[in-house]
Amino acid sequence: MSMRKGTMGLAIAAGAVLLMSSAVAYAADGKAMYDKSCKSCHGETGKGDGPAGKAMKPGDFAVTAKGKSDADIIAAMKGGKTSGGKTHQNFGGKLSDEEVKAVAQHVKELAAK
Ligand code: HEC
Repeated sequence: MSMRKGTMGLAIAAGAVLLMSSAVAYAADGKAMYDKSCKSCHGETGKGDGPAGKAMKPGDFAVTAKGKSDADIIAAMKGGKTSGGKTHQNFGGKLSDEEVKAVAQHVKELAAK
């Protein structure tokens, strides 16, 4: 009986490690795609200080994306209206739904900084 308990504990621990590593990979993908598609305007940390952002003034995610839901952020990424009343560039055709979600997650992390 104690042997079985030990095995169960191991299995649970292994499952937790698996879950943790997939969460890390998910976040990392979002950052990689952000760096590729968004950083030029929004800047490395979302402050809106990327080289292209200097002219476009995309604002600071800590202000523009603060308190926004995933759906709000995803809508902006898919060519929706921004809080400044501009129409955002549409990334819907360039990124899959999974990728859009991962990038939105990264935007939320930057907004919380
Ligand atoms: C060509 C420059 C450019 C690129 C590239 C770009 N953005 Fe933006 N983005 C802007 C500008 C400009 C605004 C702010 C407009 C305004 O003041 O309302 C903005 C605003 C936003 C907002 C805030 C929406 C709001 O309601 O204010 C989000 C979220 C956002 N962008 C996400 C992204 C993501 C994610 C990517 C990459 C997939 C991306 N943007 C790529 C220029 C860009």
